[in-house]
Order: sequence, then structure tokens, then C-alpha cells
Amino acid sequence: MPITNLLKNCSYYWGFAAYVAYHINHSLYTPPSTNQVQWFSICEMGNFSIHLLLRNLRPEGSKVRKIPYPNWNPLTSLFNFVSCPNYTYEIGAWISFTVMTQCLPAGIFTVAGAYQMIMWALGKHRNYRAEFKDYPRRKSIFPGIL
Ligand SMILES: NC(=O)c1ccc[n+]([C@@H]2O[C@H](COP(=O)([O-])OP(=O)(O)OC[C@H]3O[C@@H](n4cnc5c(N)ncnc54)[C@H](OP(=O)(O)O)[C@@H]3O)[C@@H](O)[C@H]2O)c1
Repeated sequence: MPITNLLKNCSYYWGFAAYVAYHINHSLYTPPSTNQVQWFSICEMGNFSIHLLLRNLRPEGSKVRKIPYPNWNPLTSLFNFVSCPNYTYEIGAWISFTVMTQCLPAGIFTVAGAYQMIMWALGKHRNYRAEFKDYPRRKSIFPGIL
């Protein structure tokens, strides 16, 4: 990303990290009994799997763009349904974090990030369809929905 984004992005992520951390480390905070750590972990592993696949799509040192398809890793099979499964997993992880902590700042961060990623996914999906005539039928971010 351009270096000029550094201040904006660091303020956004560190600001939210501090806001969430203040609430969930507060002495009056009571952790709920719900445990969503399995969903959170699956989403994080899914996100990592998609990034590995995307990295391996592009020959080193080039700017080549290809159509991503699922590989041997079952967590990449979301590519059968959406163009940007890394965003799907990211949103899933933050939904489970919000349920896990039941903390409003985490919910606000989830909604803000989801809005941004939905907008990006719609644009990337549109670009894929314009760039590749043989682009498979997929949604942008939420299987069967959007
Ligand atoms: N929590 C939040 O608020 C939030 C918000 C946004 C993002 N994120 C996280 O940040 C991660 C990265 O976001 P991002 O927007 O940079 O993801 P991205 O646009 O999907 O890009 C990921 C990497 O894959 C490459 N890539 C994507 N499509 C490709 C293709 N068809 N062929 C070859 N290479 C391709 C990109 O290269 P190019 O850059 O050259 O396309 C980039 O290096 C997300 O997966 C998500 O986990 C979190």
C-alpha cells in the first residue's frame, strides 16, 4: 500500500484496538460463557489459506493477475462461491470475536470493516468479470447472497 496510507490505517486499527481493549480489560467487564474460539480459528486459518493461494497465483516479481480456483486445501473451496473469500473469512472472524466478547466496540469494528470489505469485494468482482471473459459464476463476498 502507499506509504501515505500509513497514518490513516495505523490510526484506524490501533484506535479500534485500544477502544476494544479498554472495554474487554476493564475491571467491570464480565466475559460471557459463549465460546466461539473454534469459529474464530477456522476463519483465521481460512483467511491464511486464501492468502497463500493468492500469493502462489502470481509468478515472483510480476504483476500478473489470474483467476483464483480452489486447491487441495478444503478451506479454499469458498472460491467456488465467491470472488473474495479472504474478506468472507475476515468478516466471519470478527463476527465470532464479537459474539465471543459481547462487547459493543468489537461489534462497531466488525460493522465498519464489513462495510469496507463489501465495497471492495463488489469492485474486485466487477473487475474480474470485465478482465476475464471466462470468469466463473460466483458472488462477490457472501455465497448465494451478494
Ligand atoms: N478487519 C478489517 O477491517 C479489514 C479490512 C480490510 C482488509 N482486511 C484484511 O486484510 C487482508 C488483505 O486485504 P487486501 O484488500 O489487500 O486483499 P486483496 O486485495 O485480496 O489482496 C491480497 C493479495 O493478493 C493479491 N491478489 C489478489 N487477487 C489476485 C489475483 N487475481 N491474481 C494475483 N494476485 C492477486 C493482491 O495483489 P494486488 O494488490 O496487486 O491486487 C495482494 O497482494 C484481507 O484478506 C483481510 O483479512 C481487514
